[in-house]
Amino acid sequence: MAQRNDLDKPRKGVAILGSTGSIGRNALDVVRRSPERFKVVTLAAGRNTALLKEQIEEFHPSFVSVLTESAAEDLKVDAPDTRIGFGTDGASMAASYPGVEIAVSAIVGAAGLVPTLAAIRSGKDVALANKETLVVGGALVMKEVKKRGVKILPVDSEHSAVLQSIQGHRKEDIKRIILTASGGPFLGLPREKLDSVTPEQALRHPTWSMGKRITIDSATLMNKGFEVIEACWLFDIPPDKVSVCIHPQSIVHSMVEYIDGSIVAQMGSSDMRVPIAYALSYPERMETEARPFDIAGKRLEFIEPDPRKFPCLALAYRAAEHGGSYPCVLNAADEVAVDMFLKGVIKFTEIYSTVEGVLERHSPVSLDTVDRILEVDRWAREEARSIVKRRSKS
Ligand SMILES: NC(=O)c1ccc[n+]([C@@H]2O[C@H](COP(=O)([O-])OP(=O)(O)OC[C@H]3O[C@@H](n4cnc5c(N)ncnc54)[C@H](OP(=O)(O)O)[C@@H]3O)[C@@H](O)[C@H]2O)c1
Repeated sequence: MAQRNDLDKPRKGVAILGSTGSIGRNALDVVRRSPERFKVVTLAAGRNTALLKEQIEEFHPSFVSVLTESAAEDLKVDAPDTRIGFGTDGASMAASYPGVEIAVSAIVGAAGLVPTLAAIRSGKDVALANKETLVVGGALVMKEVKKRGVKILPVDSEHSAVLQSIQGHRKEDIKRIILTASGGPFLGLPREKLDSVTPEQALRHPTWSMGKRITIDSATLMNKGFEVIEACWLFDIPPDKVSVCIHPQSIVHSMVEYIDGSIVAQMGSSDMRVPIAYALSYPERMETEARPFDIAGKRLEFIEPDPRKFPCLALAYRAAEHGGSYPCVLNAADEVAVDMFLKGVIKFTEIYSTVEGVLERHSPVSLDTVDRILEVDRWAREEARSIVKRRSKS
């Protein structure tokens, strides 16, 4: 039932970029259950036009976008009353469309950067799941966020936990941010066995159900490295003040340690609808359908990550400390390496060696425009492919 004060407010216009993905579907579920608060204005997806069509029928958006022109043509037949665009321009239009107040940025990979920037530049708040936006273009993106006076609200459960843990505290009193990591499916596996793990095994995440790329990145801890970089930008804090600890139960979603020795943590069930709802309703809270969480009898463990077993984490810290174009290279090389691992072309452990090889060959440049970012992104992808090719020949 809608509460009285909710009925008095106009509904918030929402764009969902990546509506057919794991975050996109969860975001639509939050909206579905709170029609008195939110209205879907636009959707952007990739190739899954069958699901997008169902979403159009249910939510009646004013505009939708798909990846290719031919998919857009097909969709026009099925959804004649909806305006349809395609490609990066289409996703950017979905992000900046009139009536959108907040854009859920949930496209996977560096492809999320341009549409997210389009939302920011047109004055929309952003509920950010696409951490790659900040990993590849943090300096440019945060400059635009300040210039336009918009809010960038984290959807990543860890950063949402940090945002919740800093409410009412002074920034100068923060000693460090502690991001928790489940440790992925191979936490208990001896390091020597990592060479032979399969994509199917790596995709079996113990606590979260997510898209393929982030699931593999969670198994290597590269995702946690990206989150360190994301935290630096979101909370304006250097990488040496962001630490990572393994917490296999995924109950504590992250913590903030203060100078007086207090640690403030946020806990709850592993349900992405909670951080999505917080980002959409911030600074208010709203009810969610998340399973009620009973703390009684729960065990909480916190373990230092083993750097020999998870070398991708150290690699990400190195890229964060060097800054500039290094994080963009880290992400692009990792996107290629993860894709090759999923296709069975390289081993799980070669994700690390491929990304490391690309970082070693990189000469840093400044990333002050989107074109420069895309140029570096392209270079790193080509370099990653040629490393894999050379390795397969030798
Ligand atoms: N899943 C989680 O729990 C979680 C948690 C925290 C952060 N995140 C972050 O959220 C983002 C999305 O993750 P996910 O797990 O939801 O991924 P996912 O399930 O793979 O979904 C990705 C979405 O992006 C769309 N897409 C892919 N390439 C596109 C392109 N070039 N243009 C337009 N749309 C495109 C896909 O469309 P089609 O499927 O139609 O092709 C799909 O809707 C990632 O950055 C991830 O790191 C995810």
